[in-house]
Amino acid sequence: MRVRNIKGIENEIKKIAGDKLILKPEDYRGRWYKIFGNNNPIFIEIGCGRGQFITELSRMNKDINYIAIEKIKEVLYKTALKLDNDNNLRLLLTDGKLLTEIFDENEIDGIYLNFSDPWPKKRHHKRRLTSNEFLNQYERVLKKNGRINFKTDNLILFEYSLNTLAKKWNLENISLNYIHSKEIIDIETEYETKFRKKGKLIYRLEAVNIKEGEQK
Ligand SMILES: C[S@@+](CC[C@H](N)C(=O)[O-])C[C@H]1O[C@@H](n2cnc3c(N)ncnc32)[C@H](O)[C@@H]1O
Repeated sequence: MRVRNIKGIENEIKKIAGDKLILKPEDYRGRWYKIFGNNNPIFIEIGCGRGQFITELSRMNKDINYIAIEKIKEVLYKTALKLDNDNNLRLLLTDGKLLTEIFDENEIDGIYLNFSDPWPKKRHHKRRLTSNEFLNQYERVLKKNGRINFKTDNLILFEYSLNTLAKKWNLENISLNYIHSKEIIDIETEYETKFRKKGKLIYRLEAVNIKEGEQK
């Protein structure tokens, strides 16, 4: 996502989001229920972009807690602008690669990866949000049977992700032409809208965490 560097933007996010922006997320490792004041399930989105997906989803499901993670402040600012009285949504300005520093084992119920950056060059594959490095972290923070919900327009990234996930995760609801339906609780993301308008196919899968040591 191309962005213009804006001076003082972090303070602006703080002003708009108030206590919905969690400044030192690692302080809450294992204690996120305290932030939300309840034990409701916690779902995170890594790379929330401008927040169209997570702000709408959190309003639809008040009994689920959501955490939006975005590493670019100018982009998270746009998510902050979409906040309302969303008591079940928090924002983190951080890199998804720090996940195990932020969340304890089994603390998370689900992960959304929507239109993640494809990182086409081989030397950058480790940065893909479905690389083994990231999956190892997801496996730890996700509960048993917790799910990764992944959608993309990029067939090469989808193929790569099928291969990394196939080693340890149970794959379900794989779609090579994903159409929204009532059976799957989902919201169209900003990038999805853009790609659908261009007539691109959307690929989607769910990966279930069976946890280390158990037979696939
Ligand atoms: C292509 S955009 C998609 C945005 C949104 N999910 C959508 O579908 O409209 C990918 C976003 O993920 C963010 N991102 C990429 N890698 C990340 C990481 N390791 N941690 C946090 N955010 C990341 C980028 O900054 C960018 O805003």
